[in-house]
Amino acid sequence: MLFLVVMVSFHLMKQSDTCSSLPQLSLDGDYILGGLFQLHEKYGVTGTVTDTENRKPEVLQCHRFTFSSASYQQIQVMRFAIEEINNSTLLLPGVSLGYEIFDYCSDLLSYGAALDFLTQKGRGAIPVWNGTNYRPKVISVTGPFGSSQTISVAPLYMSEMIPMVTHGASSVQLSYKNRFPSFFRTIPSDKYQVAAIVRILRQFNWNWVAFIGGDNDYSRDALTVFQDEIRPANICLAYQDTIPQNQSLIGRLFNNIAMFNIQVIVVFANVEFVIPFIQKAIDLRVKEKIWIASETWSMNQELIKKSQIKRIGTVLGITVQRHKDLRGFDEFINNTVKSRHENACTDMDLKERCGQICSDCNSTSAQTIIGEDPTYSFVIYSAVYAVAHALHNALRCGTWNCADSEIIAYPYMVTEALKQVKFKLDNQSIEFDENGDPPAHYDIVHWDCKNKTCSNVDIGSYLTNPTPSFHINETLIHWFAGTKVSTKFFKSMQVYITHHQNTAWYSN
Ligand SMILES: *[C@@H]1O[C@H](CO)[C@@H](O)[C@H](O)[C@H]1NC(C)=O
Ligand SMILES: *[C@@H]1O[C@H](CO)[C@@H](O)[C@H](O)[C@H]1NC(C)=O
Ligand SMILES: *[C@@H]1O[C@H](CO)[C@@H](O)[C@H](O)[C@H]1NC(C)=O
Ligand SMILES: *[C@@H]1O[C@H](CO)[C@@H](O)[C@H](O)[C@H]1NC(C)=O
Ligand SMILES: *[C@@H]1O[C@H](CO)[C@@H](O)[C@H](O)[C@H]1NC(C)=O
Ligand SMILES: *[C@@H]1O[C@H](CO)[C@@H](O)[C@H](O)[C@H]1NC(C)=O
Ligand SMILES: *[C@@H]1O[C@H](CO)[C@@H](O)[C@H](O)[C@H]1NC(C)=O
Ligand SMILES: *[C@@H]1O[C@H](CO)[C@@H](O)[C@H](O)[C@H]1NC(C)=O
Ligand SMILES: *[C@@H]1O[C@H](CO)[C@@H](O)[C@H](O)[C@H]1NC(C)=O
Repeated sequence: MLFLVVMVSFHLMKQSDTCSSLPQLSLDGDYILGGLFQLHEKYGVTGTVTDTENRKPEVLQCHRFTFSSASYQQIQVMRFAIEEINNSTLLLPGVSLGYEIFDYCSDLLSYGAALDFLTQKGRGAIPVWNGTNYRPKVISVTGPFGSSQTISVAPLYMSEMIPMVTHGASSVQLSYKNRFPSFFRTIPSDKYQVAAIVRILRQFNWNWVAFIGGDNDYSRDALTVFQDEIRPANICLAYQDTIPQNQSLIGRLFNNIAMFNIQVIVVFANVEFVIPFIQKAIDLRVKEKIWIASETWSMNQELIKKSQIKRIGTVLGITVQRHKDLRGFDEFINNTVKSRHENACTDMDLKERCGQICSDCNSTSAQTIIGEDPTYSFVIYSAVYAVAHALHNALRCGTWNCADSEIIAYPYMVTEALKQVKFKLDNQSIEFDENGDPPAHYDIVHWDCKNKTCSNVDIGSYLTNPTPSFHINETLIHWFAGTKVSTKFFKSMQVYITHHQNTAWYSN
């Protein structure tokens, strides 16, 4: 077999730098599940990352970005699921699972982590595939969260048919199996999320709306679906724009919204775009709007807890149907936090690669982790379980033992098994359709600000399975105006706007 001389030098070269910047969590096992989580997010960087630093991609500098305790919680959910399966005597009896988890904070800075998963088990080099199976270090990959990031790393894994079973990337593109043959997800495709948003608009007769996105595939793909969905519903897209990276340019966007007299704003973007955007809305005293939140931010605790958030108007949002709690998770977190000082860097190999070291992680309390946005807990949990069930089948395990301990499962076998997998978890059926997508189960939430602080309240749901259904209980909504808001339709502006739309989206 040929071996690329490209060792995975990205994080070995500059040992001292990476030690402080690359929180890699790992635990050995018979089969390793790879995880890529955005532990640091790009918003809120205050000029510390200069261009000269960005020119050195081998130095991983994720730690310069803002630490995300929400992602840290997601990592803990993955660890929790793996430990639970490892403990189980029914699922994968006698087979231990381990994990390697990297911070995937940007394509530019974290590609090395994605490549690391491809290295041959026990070697540290990536063989050039020559028709013979090789065993990469991992049996599957979960994450990264964002659609754009997923689309950029996925081809690395697809070429080896390594299954990606992921929880956040919901872009419709990822359903195309000719491009992403070993991609599966436990979060529904945005095709359904957009359909749910349009159902909300129709419910309240809001036909004069703005669509605001971020500069990435998640938002762009949703816009395409949105335009198709609103046409038959007689809803007019009065204005669309991309949230600029330069925060001082966001004001212009609100000026346009005011100019076109738009009251209903669909914000379909990742939190790295939404947090500065909503903050700007508060700062600029944008008020009395209806905000429709995509699933990325509808449950965001940082935003809903902002002191002035009430002023911006009424927020309705879509969220992945969540299970209120994973039984035993709180206790797991308490134990993890308690044993931090014990398991940090005791193992020589871990020490070398800085396993478990992350100063931000270390200072995050159990309370913070448990109190974080629970939206993605169940989808991560079920992604890990789906891999375990598929592996269980690939190894031909029974209830008490695995048929033949000589069998070695390769990633492509797990991919094949995932197509057939069907099981119940917390009484929810987990399975994938021919595109690797799950059925859609969304809740519709409202940011109820009747009390001094706002909180998330479920007001309805949108399901595609077992039968399509949509309902909202309007009596649960506390409108900023005290009563239901209706919007007007200005036909005469349409020509100007159509022209404007064509330029606005690409102007950044
Ligand atoms: C692939 O590499 C292995 C090991 O070097 C070799 O034995 C085998 O013949 C190669 N297969 C092909 C198709 O070249
Ligand atoms: C799984 O179990 C084995 C032995 O029972 C143990 O050595 C390993 O640390 C466990 N792994 C996890 C992720 O709990
Ligand atoms: C796994 O088993 C160990 C030992 O019995 C226990 O302490 C731990 O809480 C279990 N973990 C989970 C996630 O159930
Ligand atoms: C952001 O936009 C403002 C106004 O156009 C400009 O003065 C400033 O230099 C820009 N900042 C960056 C970092 O590009
Ligand atoms: C976890 O710890 C918190 C306080 O640190 C406590 O309130 C909670 O009851 C504990 N939960 C469990 C399940 O042990
Ligand atoms: C985390 O903090 C504990 C004490 O709070 C300390 O003992 C431990 O060494 C720290 N771990 C790391 C990896 O920094
Ligand atoms: C499990 O789901 C089925 C149908 O979806 C329902 O009838 C049953 O009550 C649920 N069981 C529990 C324990 O929630
Ligand atoms: C508002 O406060 C009341 C009384 O404390 C409580 O019962 C209610 O659940 C709160 N409502 C929301 C939406 O938080
Ligand atoms: C809607 O919510 C109100 C207030 O909680 C409740 O009384 C009513 O039964 C709900 N209606 C439906 C159809 O669920």
